[in-house]
Amino acid sequence: ANATPLVTLPRVQAHRGAKGVRPENTMASLREALDQGVCWTEFDVKLSKDGVPIIYHDQDLKRTSGIDALVKDHSFAELGEFEAGAWFDEKFRGEKIPSLEEFLLFHIEHNLHPNIELKPSDGEEAETSRKVVELLDRVWPKHLDKPLFSSFKLKSLEVVRDLAPDHPRGLLLYDDITGWQENAKRLECSAIHLWHKMYTPELVNEIKQAGYATATYTVNDVDRGVELVAMGVDSIITDFPGDMIAAIGD
Ligand code: G3P
Ligand code: MG
Repeated sequence: ANATPLVTLPRVQAHRGAKGVRPENTMASLREALDQGVCWTEFDVKLSKDGVPIIYHDQDLKRTSGIDALVKDHSFAELGEFEAGAWFDEKFRGEKIPSLEEFLLFHIEHNLHPNIELKPSDGEEAETSRKVVELLDRVWPKHLDKPLFSSFKLKSLEVVRDLAPDHPRGLLLYDDITGWQENAKRLECSAIHLWHKMYTPELVNEIKQAGYATATYTVNDVDRGVELVAMGVDSIITDFPGDMIAAIGD
């Protein structure tokens, strides 16, 4: 087996771009994250019907595009027609659902580092990872640090472990951490990304003692961010990266 890759997480990661002030997971939110001074971003990736990795959080298009249909039932070309900005504010009308390729090229150009959350549509846990690895092989420069993969889906992490073992992996957890040790070990994870309300000083210690970096989401209250860092949490994923950086560094 390969050694688990090491990762040094940044203090702050921009959640879905700078989601607090821009429509999430769009080029506008990614540009804003850069302008707010982040070095790392987090965003969600799933597949179009024809297997193109795109940047989108939900399984369906209702919330951001007003369309009562699943993402996985639309081709990349069709998804490209949908509005993705006006729901947030009329002034962002015209924002589109980006491709992962477009997102990655922006990261490369501006020296940003991606935390690629594998957020597959139901039933596409393995295929999503395969397509994302294929794209990275094609576009991500070999001399740059490997993007981090994170996921709630064990299957998605298993596939990236097997196909791209040298990319660090983060195990995402919400409010049930049962079995985290076994899963993180088996999936050769480098980091644990746990919902912030679950962290206690004891748990942070336990996770760090076991050799994992620690990240948390979604923390928009700066005082809470400071508290988590004081507990020993390495990395804060936030909708307002500029404010958090001002408090705890980048
Ligand atoms: O990756 C951290 C966070 O984004 C996980 O939750 O629902 O915002 O993707 P969610
Ligand atoms: Mg996410």
